[in-house]
Amino acid sequence: MKTKLLLVLLVILHKPFWILASSYPLTPSPQVSPFPTSMSASSPGIVMGAEQQQMDSHKKMVIAIAVASTSLGAVILCVLCVWIYYTKYPSKSNTKKVQRSEDAEKGLGSAPFLSKFSSTKPVGKQGCVPTIDYRQIEKATGNFKEINILGEGGFGCVYKAHLDDDLDVAVKKLHCENQNAEQEYENEVDLLSKIQHPNVISLLGCSSNDDSRIIIYELMHNGSLETQLHGPSHGSALTWHLRMKIALDTARGLKYLHEHCYPPVIHRDLKSSNILLDTKFNAKLSDFGLAITNGAQDKNNIKLSGTLGYVAPEYLLDGKLTDKSDVYAFGVVLLELLLGKKPVEKLAPAQCQSIVTWAMPQLTDRSKLPSIVDPVIKNTMDPKHLYQVAAVAVLCVQPEPSYRPLIADVLHSLIPLVPVELGGTLRVPQQSQQVLPVDPSVHLSEQ
Ligand SMILES: Nc1ncnc2c1ncn2[C@@H]1O[C@H](COP(=O)(O)OP(=O)(O)O)[C@@H](O)[C@H]1O
Ligand SMILES: [Mg+2]
Repeated sequence: MKTKLLLVLLVILHKPFWILASSYPLTPSPQVSPFPTSMSASSPGIVMGAEQQQMDSHKKMVIAIAVASTSLGAVILCVLCVWIYYTKYPSKSNTKKVQRSEDAEKGLGSAPFLSKFSSTKPVGKQGCVPTIDYRQIEKATGNFKEINILGEGGFGCVYKAHLDDDLDVAVKKLHCENQNAEQEYENEVDLLSKIQHPNVISLLGCSSNDDSRIIIYELMHNGSLETQLHGPSHGSALTWHLRMKIALDTARGLKYLHEHCYPPVIHRDLKSSNILLDTKFNAKLSDFGLAITNGAQDKNNIKLSGTLGYVAPEYLLDGKLTDKSDVYAFGVVLLELLLGKKPVEKLAPAQCQSIVTWAMPQLTDRSKLPSIVDPVIKNTMDPKHLYQVAAVAVLCVQPEPSYRPLIADVLHSLIPLVPVELGGTLRVPQQSQQVLPVDPSVHLSEQ
């Protein structure tokens, strides 16, 4: 469409040139000679001289007009090209603004807060976060009652809070006598205020008093993937298809951070306790305290952080941090989903074993693989799909980062394994849908 418009414009712009060119041909023709043909024939010398002069001046005029109109055309063409380029490929910062406003339209984010609380806290370069009075948070959490604790983190707990108008939220309280807690608070609020995606937790607001910092998030009713897999239910709520959906959602969240944020974001602490699940088991990435934007200049100076079992070897040994570090951690989460094991198992008081070291030989052996699958989902999946997921996990946890796939490639390999209703492209015949494990009693006794 734009190309057609461009061509039409070019033809119009060059029309005067063609008209002029045909009125002032470069080789004089008898029809356009201002002198009668008889005269030309009778006194050739004089006539030829005058004719020559006139033809010369015509030629010059034609050339001047041609040059002028061509350069005008070229200038307009350049302007048009620049205009088309910017309308077709808006700058990344513009894209980001568009993404943010699109998401805001979807009703994500802090709309109820913005209408309820007048004050907002400006963060970073472009973020703005609603602030809420600390006393209101105290009241909403029953003065941070233990019964309201949803989870525990490095610098404090996360509480369930009941605000007015039937609004339940999650509230993280950080004790900021610790310098790192303050830093993580600033980092998380700054980043989350700028990014919005269906697979990234929504920041609703923040609050503070002299010695505590508060972050308010949307409440994720099914808690963390870690609690689901390794808590009291031992993964029994998670069918094979739900596990694949959680992996796909996580990959979508990561792809957004790596490829659609500008500058790109590396999560740096991807693990099952930082993947949260809503009522429908939609998975969202959370805990952005350690996340960094991919500004290469400070990447090498950052403090080594992360969680044992999920940290990529090159980051652990050389402090080399890239998006492939997140891919490694993703591979470990995939193994947890597949095998139902913790990333690091204690064998003896002073002896630990990583899931990667333990599983690797069996993951690549098709005859052994089914025997190491989480008992809760054993024999509930198409074996081809099982081999496929195991192969993806093996690639993600390769010691050499360049052998690991990009998260976008991982995502594409997972889409066909997730049923359409859960956000993938797999069409599952009704009768073969596996809602429950094949024999739940066996699994209960195995735990
Ligand atoms: N929005 C939420 N909804 C429900 N539970 C949450 C939410 N945010 C955190 N939690 C729970 O609290 C735990 C710790 O939260 P997290 O943000 O990871 O804190 P930390 O930075 O201290 O690790 C999570 O693993 C999860 O169990
Ligand atoms: Mg955490």
